[in-house]
Amino acid sequence: MSSITRRTFINTSLAAGSAVMTARVARGAPGANERVRLGVIGTGGQGRHDIMTFYKHDDTIETPIICDVDDAMIAATMKWFESKGKPRPEAVKDFRGVLDRKDVDVVLIATPDHWHALQTIMACQAGKDIYCEKPLANSIGEGQAMVDWIKKTGRILQMGTQWRLSNHFGDAVKYVQSGQLGKIRLVRAWCALAWFRNVGKPQDEPAPPPGVDYDMWLGPAPKRPFNRGRFHFSFRWYWDYAGGLMTDWGVHLLNIALWAMNADFPKRVASTGGKYAFDDHAETPDTQQTLYDFGDYGLIWEHQAGTGHGAEGREHGVAFYGLNGTLVVDAGGWEIFPEKADGKDKIERVNKKIAEDPEACRVRLVGDFLECCRTRKQPAEDVALGHRVTTVAHLGNLALRTGRSIEYDAANMKVIGNDEANAMIMPEYRKPWSLPKA
Ligand SMILES: NC(=O)c1ccc[n+]([C@@H]2O[C@H](COP(=O)([O-])OP(=O)(O)OC[C@H]3O[C@@H](n4cnc5c(N)ncnc54)[C@H](O)[C@@H]3O)[C@@H](O)[C@H]2O)c1
Repeated sequence: MSSITRRTFINTSLAAGSAVMTARVARGAPGANERVRLGVIGTGGQGRHDIMTFYKHDDTIETPIICDVDDAMIAATMKWFESKGKPRPEAVKDFRGVLDRKDVDVVLIATPDHWHALQTIMACQAGKDIYCEKPLANSIGEGQAMVDWIKKTGRILQMGTQWRLSNHFGDAVKYVQSGQLGKIRLVRAWCALAWFRNVGKPQDEPAPPPGVDYDMWLGPAPKRPFNRGRFHFSFRWYWDYAGGLMTDWGVHLLNIALWAMNADFPKRVASTGGKYAFDDHAETPDTQQTLYDFGDYGLIWEHQAGTGHGAEGREHGVAFYGLNGTLVVDAGGWEIFPEKADGKDKIERVNKKIAEDPEACRVRLVGDFLECCRTRKQPAEDVALGHRVTTVAHLGNLALRTGRSIEYDAANMKVIGNDEANAMIMPEYRKPWSLPKA
């Protein structure tokens, strides 16, 4: 049946239309000419941003249902749909309502990190493809479980690290891989974020704000009284829900480093840092340096929260130090600083500022995901790549939190001779939640 006659068929017969839908759900993916039917779990800051990006890629997307545990977030998201003249989706507070819907093919997961694994796995069980925000998971073990479930169920997962499909990051990676920098002995990735806020020392509150299902926000994380300092956005700075800047920004920038260096897992990891700048209730370090030993080169991650002057005079970036020169890349472009021999530059000086809309790579990442949902090919930042970089970031935190350097046995998902680190490879889930084995 051609797509035109199929559409007419859907429009003219409800009963027959649902039969077509059933066939589509059984197939588990939208066809080339079919509209994408999106379900959203988590409509906070990034969830709303991602919805807009999905629509920038394809304005014909349908969103039958959205989910958030906070009525205020749902209301803000509804406003967006209304402002664009789009139909109002149904709204639920329990994400299982999204997964149960037969008219949803792809699920966007933009909840706090401690929910990513379970919601992804349950989406796999429900036969949905998944666009999951970074970092992949809040622990190495949860990330591996996601890899196993994606493999078992044949679902497509794209992790939301947009710089993977940025043209100029791609060009910089190609340059590094061309060998022109000469032997690279050091890679540095960093962020220094002047906008970073002190979360203060808010007191626990006797009840969550009206309209919030706090128990569903906590989900598998340990039960504790509601506290605004640990809630929307700031959850990032508490170990129960996230990994601090090491995973939050680390996953974006380490991803570029690992991609360019074609690297897998480091041989050894050490990390130091702490709460040096802010006197507040946040747990994750505002200042951290992590050293990765890759055998014949070193990789350094560093972050400083609250000040904007980072390495190479930039707020964030990745620098590759080769014997012929250094390449520095950030969201604004890339530059090469040649070494000299006999007074002459060893390689050509490059300074490429980019004019591309920073949103363009996000749109491409979503486009790649939706294309892969149709073709069943693996997307640019598939679950395996997402798991690798998220693991590398988590190893930094394991080294920091145990105060020891780490040797990681990736094949067995174990830190050699460090029981304390191994105990953090997989978190204990609060009942009734549990992470099913694939
Ligand atoms: N790709 C990027 O550049 C980028 C940028 C920002 C955030 N992120 C990622 O997006 C995710 C969300 O971050 P954010 O800044 O939007 O946080 P946020 O706190 O603003 O939003 C999270 C939302 O999830 C909701 N939520 C929590 N538990 C839920 C559940 N069980 N079911 C449904 N909704 C639930 C919260 O109520 C909140 O509205 C994080 O993993 C973060 O790392 C990615």
